[in-house]
Amino acid sequence: MTKKNVESIETWVKHKLELCEPGHDWWHIERVRSNARIIHEREGGNWEIIHLASLLHDVADAKFFDEDNAMIEIEQLLKNNEMSDLMIKSVLDIIKNMSFSKEVEGNGFDSLEYRIVQDADRLDAIGAIGIARAFSYGGMKKRPMYDPAVKPVEYKSTEAYRKSEAPTINHFYEKLLRLNDKMKTESGKLMAAERHRFMEVYLEQFYNEWEGNF
Ligand code: ADP
Ligand code: NI
Repeated sequence: MTKKNVESIETWVKHKLELCEPGHDWWHIERVRSNARIIHEREGGNWEIIHLASLLHDVADAKFFDEDNAMIEIEQLLKNNEMSDLMIKSVLDIIKNMSFSKEVEGNGFDSLEYRIVQDADRLDAIGAIGIARAFSYGGMKKRPMYDPAVKPVEYKSTEAYRKSEAPTINHFYEKLLRLNDKMKTESGKLMAAERHRFMEVYLEQFYNEWEGNF
């Protein structure tokens, strides 16, 4: 993959993500790529596949795009940039199986590159940045920040997970605090620990302030 290929893919992704809220903007992609590089340096895998999947993983996100259409566009983009069929298949397989909402139902797909990109994406969903992203997304959806009367639930289907209108604090219990145990690489697990702890401290402070405990 030449520098020119990377630049042309970056430009395409930047343009696509202009539609999304600040938690899923180009900066998210930059952070995922940088997390993925750190994990790749420790765990191996094919960097080209990891790099492309990191750049393209949110362009087919059903929250913002028509998934089937996006997959066709991505395939075309990779062809235009002279990627081999095998490379294209490896990247598309990762993108199709990335999302937490799909894993609610289980997907059975696996590869080292997939584990690395998924861990890199999940690291950006937790810790200080993960908190900021959750409230950004909740704000876009006009969800309440917190409602003590609405208890977190465990979703049994992708559909139910996506339809939830629960307060953003519930998302911590429904997804964010569960990612720590779902990290798939050793390096990812190590990197997640500090971010996980920070969210626990954050929630404790949040409830103290809410309840007026001074
Ligand atoms: P995936 O894209 O892996 O299916 P999600 O749909 O849970 O995962 O969304 C990715 C990110 O979007 C989350 O990490 C979070 O920052 C934000 N997000 C998604 N759903 C919610 C929600 N209900 N409340 C707050 N943030 C959310
Ligand atoms: Ni992402």
